[in-house]
Amino acid sequence: MPTARLTIDPHFTIGPVNRRVFGGFVEHLGRHVYDGIHEPSHPTADADGFRADVVELVKELGVSTIRYPGGNFVSGFRWEDSVGPREERPRRLDLAWHSTETNEVGLHEFAGWLDQVGSELMLAVNLGTRGTLEALDLLEYSNISGGTALSQRRIDNGRTDAFGVKMWCLGNEMDGPWQLGHRSADDYGKLASRTAKAMRQLDPSVELVVCGSSSAHMPTFGEWERVVLSHTYDDVDYISCHAYYEEKDGDLGSFLASAVDMDGFIETVVATADHVKAVRGSDKTVNISFDEWNVWYLSRFQNVDKIEGLDNWPVAPRLLEDVYSVADAVVFGNLMISLIKHADRVTSASLAQLVNVIAPIMTEPGGPAWRQTTFFPFSITSRLAQGEALALKLDAPTYETKEYGEVPLVDAVATHDRETGRTAVFLVNRSQDEALTLTVDIATLGDLSVLEAHTLSDEDVYAKNTLQDPERVAPRANDSVRIDGGELTVTLPPVSWTAISLG
Ligand code: AHR
Repeated sequence: MPTARLTIDPHFTIGPVNRRVFGGFVEHLGRHVYDGIHEPSHPTADADGFRADVVELVKELGVSTIRYPGGNFVSGFRWEDSVGPREERPRRLDLAWHSTETNEVGLHEFAGWLDQVGSELMLAVNLGTRGTLEALDLLEYSNISGGTALSQRRIDNGRTDAFGVKMWCLGNEMDGPWQLGHRSADDYGKLASRTAKAMRQLDPSVELVVCGSSSAHMPTFGEWERVVLSHTYDDVDYISCHAYYEEKDGDLGSFLASAVDMDGFIETVVATADHVKAVRGSDKTVNISFDEWNVWYLSRFQNVDKIEGLDNWPVAPRLLEDVYSVADAVVFGNLMISLIKHADRVTSASLAQLVNVIAPIMTEPGGPAWRQTTFFPFSITSRLAQGEALALKLDAPTYETKEYGEVPLVDAVATHDRETGRTAVFLVNRSQDEALTLTVDIATLGDLSVLEAHTLSDEDVYAKNTLQDPERVAPRANDSVRIDGGELTVTLPPVSWTAISLG
């Protein structure tokens, strides 16, 4: 059995793990909102039509901030359509997903749902087909207490208190040719700067996210960030990163190493932001909002799901309903490790998405809601990763991948909470055929015992939870963990994700 060694020392901190790193994303897309979180005829639906079983699962998942309402959807969205009496709201074409948007759920209903799940609202403004004025209008409607036309309109629409939205995205994926209103970095940078300045003039307390690249593999990656930040550095708090991974051509080895790509992506964007900071002589630091990340079988969407036709604009079609395997969940858990490893600069992140659409939670109309395999690494990490991220010393064997060259078989991160004295360690074994024994030097942490240890793995790495078999995959207690004389040992099965809590 191969072995690896890890050293944890609570003095070597990376930075505090911001709760916003455990954010989610709800887009008006497919069956996410309609027939997902909202299904008035469902037996568990409340007076507003929201499914109580979904609310419970979202709470269990432990999502902090939720980005809304898109995604690509936002670049054609008129926010005014989604407020006011429901029966008067227009049905609109959603060009991004070739669907019909009924506007039955809008800002007020969604904010009410967020109160139920206990999450914070993060809004995106449309900088694709609209501009600064509409962004200002939405900000006034959302954040001004009263006494103006738009704040009064919100009050008339039933909401006395302002929504008080802090986090705002300045458009979505404006570098992508698929985006409505796609622009060059120069054009977008100027528009984002003007809009950000205007929004701050209205509400100086907002936190603004400027669009970075849609992936590290875009032809404009790097230069896009440099140009956009050259225009907006003084105006924004975050630059966004988006990344999706999938197993391609049966190359599981490379897929399992996807977090290597995410690490490089984050570090390159940090370097680019810091380059602009140096050129400007600024003492301000722009951090990363990794506001779309997940495993997504994008090639399936492009080849199978696509909707077309001048008179074919369905309401809530089944789109992007990926069913995740154990291997997908291991990669997913590893992506969370990557985010936490960069806690000093990734201070906000949004899992894309939440329900039915590339989601940890699935629902069937009139039927049950269940947890996908990816639900578990998210809920456990969100619950256990408290305090500060720690820089670890890891010695592990390596393996060769087609995509990323030689990579370690193990990846790991730990967090330490000074107040509770608890430490959590998150681990993956990327080996496809061998279990691995990991020894962890925990001597500097003092006298500890194991509070919890969970491992997600399966003899069938492609096992999934489905409507027919919703509990086929779940994490199991890892009984191999031993502590002896300042050393912890644990066996990590092949293709596995593990979380250990010590206290
Ligand atoms: O999450 C699905 C889509 O992926 C989003 O709408 C878009 O921003 C990204 O390309």
